[in-house]
Amino acid sequence: MGWGQKNRLSRIIKPKDGRSLMLAVDHGYFLGPTTGLENFKKAVDPLIPYADTLFATRGMIRSCVDPKIDTPIMLRNSGGTSILNKELLHEGITVDIKDALRMNAVGVGYSIAVGMDWERDTILDFSKVVDDCEKYGLVAMAVTAVGKDLTKDARYLGLASRIAAEHGAHIVKTYYCKDFDKVVDACPVPIVMAGGKKIPEIEALTMAYNAIQAGAVGVDMGRNIFQSDDPVAMMRAVRELIHKNATPKEALQFFNDNKKSGSMPKKSTIAADDTKKV
Ligand code: 5RP
Repeated sequence: MGWGQKNRLSRIIKPKDGRSLMLAVDHGYFLGPTTGLENFKKAVDPLIPYADTLFATRGMIRSCVDPKIDTPIMLRNSGGTSILNKELLHEGITVDIKDALRMNAVGVGYSIAVGMDWERDTILDFSKVVDDCEKYGLVAMAVTAVGKDLTKDARYLGLASRIAAEHGAHIVKTYYCKDFDKVVDACPVPIVMAGGKKIPEIEALTMAYNAIQAGAVGVDMGRNIFQSDDPVAMMRAVRELIHKNATPKEALQFFNDNKKSGSMPKKSTIAADDTKKV
């Protein structure tokens, strides 16, 4: 790794504890106005101070995020299909690496579709993304996308994560599963856990804690934060867990202590229910 790439990686994974708290707010690239992110700026601005890195699309960063932001930006650079498409996750490269550089991104995140009919296209595209990142000193994160017919288990996620690493990923983002330590052991590059669909706060905190215990460097979490009863309190609780070694019980206590009284669960929409498919 060159100096620039090491520097960018150290902005994502904090050198003081080797941990990373990414806020994933890229969902609109295939889900449109996802529940909790309908008004992107209103939802995301209050969360930014607590995130180590913001993971979003270039369109939302440009139109909704203040360029004076201190937080590193990781750009979602895959897409091309929507939740309405039968070939959801048949994605291609959506951002030229030079535009990612112009936006001062620390890296890019691309979904590989291992096990789907179009896995070859996405793995070859991801290899190009890695080549571009090597050329310009950016960090390439592979997201192990999971189609609705595939099981989120250690066998599948281990296969997808290892394939991502073999093709040069600097970071792998994958889902939590039973025997997650096996997924981590077989993947020689840092793993961040994706949160998945909204579950009760204590379950999301326990899942993140277990992922860290199994060797993940952190999380790239979205819906379990921005769809929480109180997104800021949840973001801060996850931060306690990642950077202050809080247990799930302590982090939940922190969430409850900091939750605004009267905060209500977000209403469900069709888009939110559709997220169960991915
Ligand atoms: C979608 C993504 C999301 O960023 C990822 O799923 C993380 O968000 P969540 O915690 O809501 O699952 O990569 O493909």
